[in-house]
Amino acid sequence: MKNPMDLSNKYILITGASSGIGKATAIYCAELGAKVVLMGRNTEKLLETKKLLPGEDHQFFAMDFRTLLGNSVRRDYLSELFGQITAGDRKLDGFVHCAGIASVMPLKSLTIERLHEVMSVNFYSFIEMTRNYLKKKNSNDGSSIIGISSVLAVRPREYELAYVASKAAMDAAVPVIAMESAKRRIRVNCIAPGSVNTEMAANMAREYKNQNFQEKQKKQSIFGWQQPEDIAKVCAFLLSDASRAFTAQVLRPDGGYR
Ligand SMILES: NC(=O)c1ccc[n+]([C@@H]2O[C@H](COP(=O)([O-])OP(=O)(O)OC[C@H]3O[C@@H](n4cnc5c(N)ncnc54)[C@H](OP(=O)(O)O)[C@@H]3O)[C@@H](O)[C@H]2O)c1
Repeated sequence: MKNPMDLSNKYILITGASSGIGKATAIYCAELGAKVVLMGRNTEKLLETKKLLPGEDHQFFAMDFRTLLGNSVRRDYLSELFGQITAGDRKLDGFVHCAGIASVMPLKSLTIERLHEVMSVNFYSFIEMTRNYLKKKNSNDGSSIIGISSVLAVRPREYELAYVASKAAMDAAVPVIAMESAKRRIRVNCIAPGSVNTEMAANMAREYKNQNFQEKQKKQSIFGWQQPEDIAKVCAFLLSDASRAFTAQVLRPDGGYR
């Protein structure tokens, strides 16, 4: 029987692939037959992810998205990277933006520089990557773009203004990009997880010290904590032809966040 989530012969670009949800998504996509291009900051961790991928022909590129802001040389470099990724008339079939940073800080301490930093990694880079992806020479018609948002975009927490704003911006941008990509039938969607057991969540627990963060988050969802693999499967669905009818949506694999 045909697997509706088969990704054989699909060429997928994943940011944040060195850790957590991005890493799990890269592994799952490769298990479904995709060729994967991994992006993240840390070369060693990217190499570790690459070693875990079944199949051949996967690649990785290190890039720090904070360097894109106000730096046209770095943005030109990103455009060149896309040229390398799509060398030999090879085109991408999907892009998942998992790169992201959290930020816990009361408004009175939040500097405009920190706000820019969080927006750069979580949102501006998503837009810059998407702009490059959407060039006809880089992507196939009928392909799929996914931004990893967060439940916090609609259920905000205090002290997380920068993070919440970056995810709300992504949710707001996705329908606009979806409308502008409709002629090529490129689907553009967000996935908004709740609490997922990753390095980011461990860092958050440290930042909310003495406040029983893990336990509070567990109670926030009917199913408690999710695993990165749970989100990876939703990414694979949105990358596959099984989701042909989905665009401009926010999917919420949040275990029943309340
Ligand atoms: N965990 C959760 O509970 C949760 C819930 C909702 C949404 N999310 C979202 O899910 C996405 C993945 O998060 P995660 O939980 O998997 O976190 P994670 O394990 O900390 O992974 C974050 C990824 O982002 C990359 N990254 C961070 N700063 C970067 C920069 N300046 N330039 C390029 N890449 C950078 C990291 O690369 P390096 O390792 O190379 O630094 C890493 O691959 C994020 O967008 C996050 O907001 C997470």
